[in-house]
Amino acid sequence: MFNLTGHIALVSGAGQSVGEGIAKVLARQGASVIVNDLHADRAEKVAAAIAEEGNRGIAAAFDVTDIDATAEAVRAAEAELGGHVDILVNNAGVAEGRVIKPFRDLAPEEWRAPIDLNIFGAMNCIKVVLDGMCDNGWGRIVQISSGSARTGQNINQTMYATGKSGIEGFIRHLAAETGQYGVTANIVALGHQKNLEDKMPPEMIERILTQIPIGRLGDPIEVGAFCAYLASHEAGGMTGQTLDFNGGSQTR
Ligand SMILES: NC(=O)c1ccc[n+]([C@@H]2O[C@H](COP(=O)([O-])OP(=O)(O)OC[C@H]3O[C@@H](n4cnc5c(N)ncnc54)[C@H](O)[C@@H]3O)[C@@H](O)[C@H]2O)c1
Repeated sequence: MFNLTGHIALVSGAGQSVGEGIAKVLARQGASVIVNDLHADRAEKVAAAIAEEGNRGIAAAFDVTDIDATAEAVRAAEAELGGHVDILVNNAGVAEGRVIKPFRDLAPEEWRAPIDLNIFGAMNCIKVVLDGMCDNGWGRIVQISSGSARTGQNINQTMYATGKSGIEGFIRHLAAETGQYGVTANIVALGHQKNLEDKMPPEMIERILTQIPIGRLGDPIEVGAFCAYLASHEAGGMTGQTLDFNGGSQTR
């Protein structure tokens, strides 16, 4: 089940945390994985870890918000791997130097980065691989989103939520367009993940855990396993959906 042998996957922002877990699991299921990150050293480290497990991963450092750089790097990786990307996981979504402020304190020039990354960055990756998927009659697009796209939260992240909810709407329409070509597109709306322990004070983590029925933060390998399902042949009937992956949290 969920055997991805013979497929080529592109995972954006896969140089650490959630994306790293996704890239490793897709490779374990047999896919050749293009490990993208803005930072070459991060992408190379994950590609090396995939190779150490006896699987196939190649590093591709580029900025997904730059469509020319994305196209050039993806075409080069495809030439190296000898095929077209037919699995795309748009995971990059936390902009460098993320600004955490209430909207009333944000300057207009601070609005753009999370929207550029979450909307145009994701669309750039899709644009670059979509013809190959549709022409071959098979493709899987998984969009990593957040519960914050559909709930109001007082966490100083209005622009991040704008980017996430914008791309969710795009993906639902895309799924409706591409189903006829055998190309599915789904959204995984994540709850709080393990790597937040490095970013937040322990008392904040404790507070978050009280909202999560399973009593722990999300695990990148578990997220990867869910993506492997959505990327599989067996998931061909699942498209246009937003799936919460959040340990059962009702607050998302
Ligand atoms: N961590 C959480 O609790 C959480 C919760 C909900 C949703 N998410 C979503 O999960 C995804 C991964 O989050 P994370 O916490 O693992 O992020 P992270 O910041 O730990 O890692 C993301 C990686 O993306 C790379 N990146 C950033 N901008 C890029 C660009 N323009 N082009 C290519 N790579 C770029 C970064 O260099 C980094 O290595 C994001 O879409 C995020 O919104 C995370």
